[in-house]
Amino acid sequence: MLEPISPGVWRVRLGKPESVTPVGRRETPPMLDAIAKLPAPGPCPFDPATWTFTTGPRGCVIDMPWNGEPAYGLGLQLKSFNQRGRKKTLRTNSDPVADTGDSHAPVPFLVSTAGMGIYIDTVRYATVYVGSHGRTGHGSNWVRPSFLEIPGKDGQPAPAPKPTKDWRLVIDIPAAQGVDLYLFAGPDLKQAVQRYNLFSGGGCLPPMWGLGVWYRVLAKFSQDEVLAMAKGFREREIPCDVLGLEPGWQTQSYPCSYVWSPERFPRPQEIIDQLKGLGFRLNLWEHVFVHAESPVADGVRASSGNYEAFGGLVPDLTNPAAAGAFAAHHDRELVARGVSGFKLDECDNSDFLNGLPWSFPEHSRFPSGLDGEQMHSLLGPLYQRLIHSLFRKHNRRTYGQVRAAHGLASPDPFVLYSDLYEHRDFCRGVANIGFSGLLWSPEVRHAASAQDLLRRVQSVVLSPQALINAWYIRNPPWLQVNSEKNNRDELQDDREQLESACRELFRLRMRLIPTLYAAFARYRFEGLPPFRALVMDWPGDPQTHGIDDQWIIGEGLLVAPLFEGQKEREVYLPAGDWFCFHTHQKFEGGKKHTVPADDARVPMFVRSGCILPLAEPVLAVGDGTVFRVTATTFGASCAPINLFEDDGVSFDFESGKSNRVELAWSRANGPKVTRTGSYAGRRYEIVAWEHVGV
Ligand code: GAL
Repeated sequence: MLEPISPGVWRVRLGKPESVTPVGRRETPPMLDAIAKLPAPGPCPFDPATWTFTTGPRGCVIDMPWNGEPAYGLGLQLKSFNQRGRKKTLRTNSDPVADTGDSHAPVPFLVSTAGMGIYIDTVRYATVYVGSHGRTGHGSNWVRPSFLEIPGKDGQPAPAPKPTKDWRLVIDIPAAQGVDLYLFAGPDLKQAVQRYNLFSGGGCLPPMWGLGVWYRVLAKFSQDEVLAMAKGFREREIPCDVLGLEPGWQTQSYPCSYVWSPERFPRPQEIIDQLKGLGFRLNLWEHVFVHAESPVADGVRASSGNYEAFGGLVPDLTNPAAAGAFAAHHDRELVARGVSGFKLDECDNSDFLNGLPWSFPEHSRFPSGLDGEQMHSLLGPLYQRLIHSLFRKHNRRTYGQVRAAHGLASPDPFVLYSDLYEHRDFCRGVANIGFSGLLWSPEVRHAASAQDLLRRVQSVVLSPQALINAWYIRNPPWLQVNSEKNNRDELQDDREQLESACRELFRLRMRLIPTLYAAFARYRFEGLPPFRALVMDWPGDPQTHGIDDQWIIGEGLLVAPLFEGQKEREVYLPAGDWFCFHTHQKFEGGKKHTVPADDARVPMFVRSGCILPLAEPVLAVGDGTVFRVTATTFGASCAPINLFEDDGVSFDFESGKSNRVELAWSRANGPKVTRTGSYAGRRYEIVAWEHVGV
């Protein structure tokens, strides 16, 4: 029953799987050679002989034993972290009201601290019962609530019977009469995730400029207003790489025409070129629902679904003719003219927004035979892959935003975002994404106070995409955090101070680019997520199992975000020594520390034994930018690190045009920089070394 795919990866075929699944529709092949290079996994930790598989009129069910260890993943879960004991229905939905499993990115992959990963290859709304329910006759999982306690001897409540945990992992898949399950064995949690990401095709490597600061302008801005904003950023020395336009750039946006508005953008090529001249890349908002008068409409109509979304056609991008028409227009009119990427909005679904659903229904039918449920899981991935392939054709990398993703997502160069706005949940999102091959931005819009703004900006600059989404505010939020006042141009008294605090945070982001780019290179080639919850690196330390408000960037930079109103916070540092990023003060690991919440500085710690490269901040990453890097060593002995060096914009690295820049240091031999590879240019100059805690 267990079919080996590569070391530590197996497939189990149960019943008759559906013909449309993420694996069946994949475009990036698995990186089997890279999987084979990971540490040996040992035997398969799953035993399908102990499972039960049943089919019936409502679909199929797989029921398997499980040891009840903490388990993570199932996509962008904003409301919970450890999934043990929970029931999750994996539905693509943009505005969940509770911890149901609805998500922008409900990825059917679960991984546990025992280093076991399981991927369910389905686009159905599968429900995963992560040890939440017990079977009849196997002891009760039910814990009696205290109000039901029956007085025992001496009037004392009788002790509740100890629940016998009948830990089962149960997967209930509607409609399907079978499924392929892919099983991954670590040996530890991190490597199980790496295997899953490599099986997905490896991580994405964003263009270097994508790691800078992003700013989306007010939806109704005209071309002149956009240019004025761009110039203002440069004059005020606010680092920014990407400017994003929102719905107003098109003649029609609900549904979309994909055509520049002649009123707001009479000379589109001019604004693209002017922004380029100022060092900005341009990103355009759109969604996939096509206006009847769009030049794309004729090409997609025949294969579209029998229900609309926002009054537009719902194109079936599995249909080559429809995908071709959509792609050709985008290519000719936008990509070839210099647009750097897109924000693929609303390719998710909405059932809960003020009771007003806006997407196509699950019972929609498409001429290809797909139904609406399948299409909701597929639309985000199909859309991303279509846009990505356009850029690939031009040998240009893109980095964009998207509102929906699903299985095998790691190669897609798109970052998830949301209209939700709970800062605490947004940070949990950063901790969670690493389990599921996803990227996520806790984007900043308005704020409740100056402190709320600063703390949100701190989190976002330490996330996969440093995104300020000012689509409904005229002025940057640091000039006025309140959106109504902002739109009336009533600016805050302390705006200079706030602006300079935000500028400093954006500069911090720019200093981290070499670290971030190196972390993404490991994602690309080794499947190692650049942003990870602590449990991924320390699965054997039970204290990390519940930490959903801290994360690790790259090799050993630990971030503990702050929330509005906090005067101090607890930070757990795993075993070993740590140094405060800001003051270099030493902290002992293996325990919690209470640190003051200072408005200017987010708690960040560097693990002893790490080398941290920090760049002199630039305003934007140009094609020829060479970063001047100071390498700081932490602790008495350090492991070498590798920076990744290439042109930062093309796919030439895939044919070997890249360098590995190894930074090594030891007390005996001092610093050493070794460059290997065949990229002739330079992106880094190591200008200084500093030593902390020697
Ligand atoms: C929303 C999106 C926002 C903004 C807005 C414009 O769907 O999440 O970020 O783009 O549309 O209408």
